[in-house]
Amino acid sequence: MKYIIGNWKMNKTAGEIVEFTRGLKKYKFPKNSNVIFGLAVPYVYLLGMSKLQGHFLIGAQNVSSHENGAYTGEISAEMLADVGLDFCIVGHSERRHLFNESNADVNNKLKRLQEYDMLPILCIGETLEEFEANKTKSVLSEQIKSALDGLDLKKEMIIAYEPVWAIGTGKSASAEIIKDTTAFIKDELNALKVDYPILYGGSVNPANASEILHIENVDGALIGGASLDSDKFVQIGSCLY
Ligand code: 13P
Repeated sequence: MKYIIGNWKMNKTAGEIVEFTRGLKKYKFPKNSNVIFGLAVPYVYLLGMSKLQGHFLIGAQNVSSHENGAYTGEISAEMLADVGLDFCIVGHSERRHLFNESNADVNNKLKRLQEYDMLPILCIGETLEEFEANKTKSVLSEQIKSALDGLDLKKEMIIAYEPVWAIGTGKSASAEIIKDTTAFIKDELNALKVDYPILYGGSVNPANASEILHIENVDGALIGGASLDSDKFVQIGSCLY
């Protein structure tokens, strides 16, 4: 099974979403394909996207680390489950770096999602500085261990390896780096006796998708910029069928 998940981030208006879904109509998605498409859309459009559910997984980009209550502006895991979402991204590097989300926050968010049996896509990844200082593996190891601490590891989860230096730069990590790093993540997960799918994210586009998606241990892609365009998004997945 391969996952092709778009992360729209803070993009698109309702009109642009109508254009996007119209754009999808010209494609035939193979039945019984082993490719699962999904979209993580801004909260305000989540309910409107439920029409696509059944064909696409629909998910949120973030969740509160708190349960319900006096947390103005927050959205709880209970609410996400209540509107029937399929998954939620947690720990995206933009949340970690622009909104100071700590490993402990990420861990709490995962706990909240598990309370409602919501599938998390846990993002991990090193910064350029950490990459250049050869700290990638220690950073990832710490991110994984702290995120999973105290969770029910038997519940489903997806891990997305997104090197921060490859996000939105137009320059993905090389196949060699992706192969080496995802093999390391797989070993870390095996040591915890879990076997979660591992996605790669960071400047995936129709031109590099086939190479990336055929790397051993890569079970799919988490796509930012290219997922905003229905043609590019579908083309990325179509190299698998
Ligand atoms: P880009 O595909 O735009 O590099 O973004 C990747 C990403 O952050 C997906 O979560």
